[in-house]
Amino acid sequence: MQRETVEEFRTKRDEALSYIQDETDMRPNYIIILGTGLGHLADEIDVKHTISYADIPHFPVSTVESHAGRLLFGELGGKEIVAMQGRFHYYEGYTMQEIVFPLRVLKANGTDTLIVSNACGGMNPNYKRGDIMLINDHINMLGDNPLIGPNDDELGPRFPDMSEPYTERLLEIAENVALEKGIKMHQGVYLALSGPTLETKAEYRYLRLIGADVVGMSTVPEVIAAVHMSMEVLGISVITDECLPDALEPVNIEDVLEAAGMAEPKMTQVITGVLEKL
Ligand code: HPA
Repeated sequence: MQRETVEEFRTKRDEALSYIQDETDMRPNYIIILGTGLGHLADEIDVKHTISYADIPHFPVSTVESHAGRLLFGELGGKEIVAMQGRFHYYEGYTMQEIVFPLRVLKANGTDTLIVSNACGGMNPNYKRGDIMLINDHINMLGDNPLIGPNDDELGPRFPDMSEPYTERLLEIAENVALEKGIKMHQGVYLALSGPTLETKAEYRYLRLIGADVVGMSTVPEVIAAVHMSMEVLGISVITDECLPDALEPVNIEDVLEAAGMAEPKMTQVITGVLEKL
């Protein structure tokens, strides 16, 4: 495969950035990526500018029906934010570089903190459908990495450190918010696989054994790109189904979306509460 050069990337990023900067003069510090079934957090945002991905040069366009595909610039929890309503998954056929392109563009627009959410399957037997979990670490089993290829030294180092991908300070703030608001929240390890198949019983047994609490098909590419660019990261998972190998029930996307809808108000309260404290 022919990899994009650093110059090609920078040209594309700068074209996307100038389009965005012509549409809005907002330069928010915070970017929120909304996961599958979690787009309604957007209703809480005091939106000032909306930009469709389709209008931004070089932006990928989401193929998943449950994802809207636009940037919302506005205010949440008293802070200026930009939200990605609709994200890109590896299983859709995008390259890792395409998946993280929007984040890289928005970093160039001034964001330095990533708040990322997702829907996932819970493998820890203490986790119930509709619960939420703060991500305190991850395991990348996507079989790919957005940093493979030429390194743009202006973005970050060739070999980024991964000892604290999820910012300890933000985890503590989020824990305090959940405590104050009386929201039950777990903390654990997110494991990313490519999908689009869900896992077999044997795979769930194996993934649990190697240290994961939940499994999903997103988030890790964006977190890797964010850490590479020295951004702070907060990750929140919504458990949409229980993946217990010895008692596994079939799941479908409707069930996943329903559970995401159940958990979304809790996630929204935590994210809003964290922004208020920052
Ligand atoms: N695996 C299992 N269950 C899930 C997933 C997944 O990737 N995403 C949402 N529920």
